[in-house]
Amino acid sequence: MEERRCCGLSLLSLGFSCILLLISFTGSVQAYKNYTVGDSLGWYDNSQKPKLNYQKWADDDKIFSLGDFLIFNTDNNHSVVQTYNFTTYKLCDDDDALSTDTTEWSVADPSATATYPVTVAVPLVKEGMSYFFSGDYDGDQCKDGQHFKINVTHGQGLPESLKSPSEQAPAPNSPDVDNADSAPDTVVNSDFNHPHDEDEDHVKKDSGSISLYVNLLGMKLLVSVILVAMICIF
Ligand SMILES: *[C@@H]1O[C@H](CO)[C@@H](O)[C@H](O)[C@H]1NC(C)=O
Ligand SMILES: *[C@@H]1O[C@H](CO)[C@@H](O)[C@H](O)[C@H]1NC(C)=O
Ligand SMILES: *[C@@H]1O[C@H](CO)[C@@H](O)[C@H](O)[C@H]1NC(C)=O
Ligand SMILES: *[C@@H]1O[C@H](CO)[C@@H](O)[C@H](O)[C@H]1NC(C)=O
Repeated sequence: MEERRCCGLSLLSLGFSCILLLISFTGSVQAYKNYTVGDSLGWYDNSQKPKLNYQKWADDDKIFSLGDFLIFNTDNNHSVVQTYNFTTYKLCDDDDALSTDTTEWSVADPSATATYPVTVAVPLVKEGMSYFFSGDYDGDQCKDGQHFKINVTHGQGLPESLKSPSEQAPAPNSPDVDNADSAPDTVVNSDFNHPHDEDEDHVKKDSGSISLYVNLLGMKLLVSVILVAMICIF
């Protein structure tokens, strides 16, 4: 009698540990990620970085989910435009785009004679297709390789910090034609991060090995599920 109760109890606690283990592993697999676009090469057109193929970069073992960030390391001669409108993307032109589906996260300054680094973090806040390109020089940079599309999955959903974009997310420039010709000081918008920020360097290093990280997590999950299943059976 005594013995039985003991074993029943320890089985119960074992079961609990199994569940806890599973929850903690699923949790770590679903952590939000930051992807550095183009990895160490950054966000440029092919006249500057001929080896870059952003679609290949995006399709290479990456799963983009709500709450992840795309980090664009570029300069003030290239822009970051995000659109949900396939027509705008195909045209490589956001001049006539609607502010409801298109966002200029960073605007290039064609009048600048010297370039300086610009880093922009774009949160993924909408499920489904999202298109990115550089909209300057009449679409030349876009046509010259500076574009890609991603399909954002639901994942674990938006984190609290991104749920009300108007308050929490960095304010983007409106996709207004006039912006392109405006003075440089209005070009440096609130989402400009200092490129030598400790955080950014950290991000860069991290996302370089993100696919490896995901693979490792997958392996870990598989092994632990098998282990847990074996423990639970015996
Ligand atoms: C991802 O980037 C955002 C915006 O720069 C930052 O707030 C966040 O801490 C970064 N997350 C990770 C996991 O590095
Ligand atoms: C996409 O943008 C174009 C302008 O670039 C606009 O004419 C069209 O109505 C938009 N499509 C949708 C579905 O909003
Ligand atoms: C800016 O980009 C354009 C088009 O890609 C290029 O022709 C021009 O030389 C660049 N300007 C600077 C200052 O790098
Ligand atoms: C995007 O992914 C979702 C979920 O995997 C899928 O249902 C949808 O068809 C995809 N959209 C496109 C345009 O490929």
